Amino acid sequence: MEIMLLEKNKDKTKMSLMIKKATPAYMNSIRRILMNKVPTLAIEDIELRKNSSAMYDEIIAHRLGLVALKTDSKSYNLPNKCKCEGKGCAQCQVKLTLKVKGPKTVYASDLKSTDPKVVPVFPETPITKLLKNQELELEATAIMGVGKEHVKWSPCLAFYKHKSNIKITKDVENKEDVVKSCPEKIFEIKKNKLCVVQDNALNCTLCEQCKDLTNGIVFAEKEETSFILNIDSWGQLSVKEMFEIGIESFNETLDELSKKISEIK
Ligand code: F3S
Repeated sequence: MEIMLLEKNKDKTKMSLMIKKATPAYMNSIRRILMNKVPTLAIEDIELRKNSSAMYDEIIAHRLGLVALKTDSKSYNLPNKCKCEGKGCAQCQVKLTLKVKGPKTVYASDLKSTDPKVVPVFPETPITKLLKNQELELEATAIMGVGKEHVKWSPCLAFYKHKSNIKITKDVENKEDVVKSCPEKIFEIKKNKLCVVQDNALNCTLCEQCKDLTNGIVFAEKEETSFILNIDSWGQLSVKEMFEIGIESFNETLDELSKKISEIK
């Protein structure tokens, strides 16, 4: 297998990789592990002490549950893997409090965490608006969980596509139509010839507009064993951390499978 980094952003929350000599099943496993098996922190329980806002308690709880929290994966365990056996301790949960009075817009940044490292990824996420004298007071408990249990624990969106090679087999008359029709701006006309814009070529989504317009003279051919994997983190973890934790978790699953198979007589 060959892996090539195509793109990553400064804060390491977005990454594009080219993976060669792989299969769709393999790519799908990576996608599912990253989205569903990497633990993050999210608010699970809320004790509401005061809520005179216009929103029901359930709506406030739902909105808080979806607030992405920075996760220090080395300091927290999944409840079922914690020494406390899921009873709740400083190694598997963190408390956050909220005490606000209107008039004001309540933001995620109003949450006060008992662990300074566990803070909202997007502090400007609005929770609700309070009118004069309306109050909101609560204590929330965030625990580690995985995306397969609830999407609030999912650390990213991961998706892949086949890499494609664009072929122009001979000159076509409707060059302008081909240029205009490609949604990814992959074609241009140079010296009256239809050409591929190399910087955009990897963006091809295999939509086949070019093939339909030119009766197959221009087309994109997918490379069966080459893929482009895109990972957009929601900010709880960096993409590198997600890969490390995800692969470790996948190895544990395979070890367990191998152990169970060896037990069969
Ligand atoms: Fe564009 Fe043709 Fe690909 S229209 S997106 S180059 S299949």
